Amino acid sequence: MAIITGGSRGVGRGIALRLAADGAPVAVNYRRDVEAADEVVKEIAAAGGTAVAYQAAIDDESAVAAMVESVRRDLGPVGIVVSNAGSASRGSDVAGTPEEEFLSLMRVHAFGPIGLIKAVLPDLRAADRGDIVMISSNSVAFAPVRSAPYTMAKAAMETCVLTLAREERRHGIRANIVAPGLVATEMGRRLVRTGGKTIEDLDATYPFGRVCRPEDVAGAVAYLVSADGSYVTGQRLLVDGGGPDVPLF
Ligand SMILES: NC(=O)c1ccc[n+]([C@@H]2O[C@H](COP(=O)([O-])OP(=O)(O)OC[C@H]3O[C@@H](n4cnc5c(N)ncnc54)[C@H](OP(=O)(O)O)[C@@H]3O)[C@@H](O)[C@H]2O)c1
Repeated sequence: MAIITGGSRGVGRGIALRLAADGAPVAVNYRRDVEAADEVVKEIAAAGGTAVAYQAAIDDESAVAAMVESVRRDLGPVGIVVSNAGSASRGSDVAGTPEEEFLSLMRVHAFGPIGLIKAVLPDLRAADRGDIVMISSNSVAFAPVRSAPYTMAKAAMETCVLTLAREERRHGIRANIVAPGLVATEMGRRLVRTGGKTIEDLDATYPFGRVCRPEDVAGAVAYLVSADGSYVTGQRLLVDGGGPDVPLF
């Protein structure tokens, strides 16, 4: 079975639908929007799959521990963990960003996910195969201005995942990173609004005539956790159409 954090909308919703369609029972984690999480669960059930929604803020250690216990009780041992939940930083430059914002983004994108992974490691190690997939961002490679708390936290977590790949392969665990560029989700729409644009404005200027969709990211995750991905670990798979050749927005 698979836990997808932030599975209630956007990229996480796409991953939950895809892994469920590929046959995995799915735990759909969300933070606030229970209606959205319930919609995903209903959509999976209507298509013949199995899914349950679980509320827990990823940066709340005791809530995450309680969620993992509930998931095990309801759906059995965890075989796949997709660390996807996240939010952007507020858009200040480094000079104007208080320490608390750096810490907050580190809790959401690094310390929280590490806590979740540690909580499910006994299940992953006990199985013939376990998978850890982190949803990062292609921005880690080019450090855009006014997003240091977000980019730093993603970079920190990427390093941890690559370390896990080496440490845990002796236990049959694969650990990989999927790094999208801009994706057409609420987060993506908010980001482009700050530049006075919409995703639809940008579609024609993007590689292959469109901004990345959640299904594109989900396809990469599905490959990594499939039998075809079983000899792939410690990789960072970019899902950004080959990268921007013009300013993003
Ligand atoms: N969109 C992009 O352009 C883009 C590009 C590169 C990478 N990414 C990465 O892709 C991932 C998903 O982003 P998205 O675009 O799908 O974002 P989104 O549309 O804003 O959805 C975010 C999801 O994460 C959940 N969430 C947020 N903070 C949480 C927390 N502290 N604990 C638990 N759940 C939390 C939300 O649940 P609630 O609604 O219940 O709060 C929601 O399900 C993120 O890691 C993001 O950094 C996005």
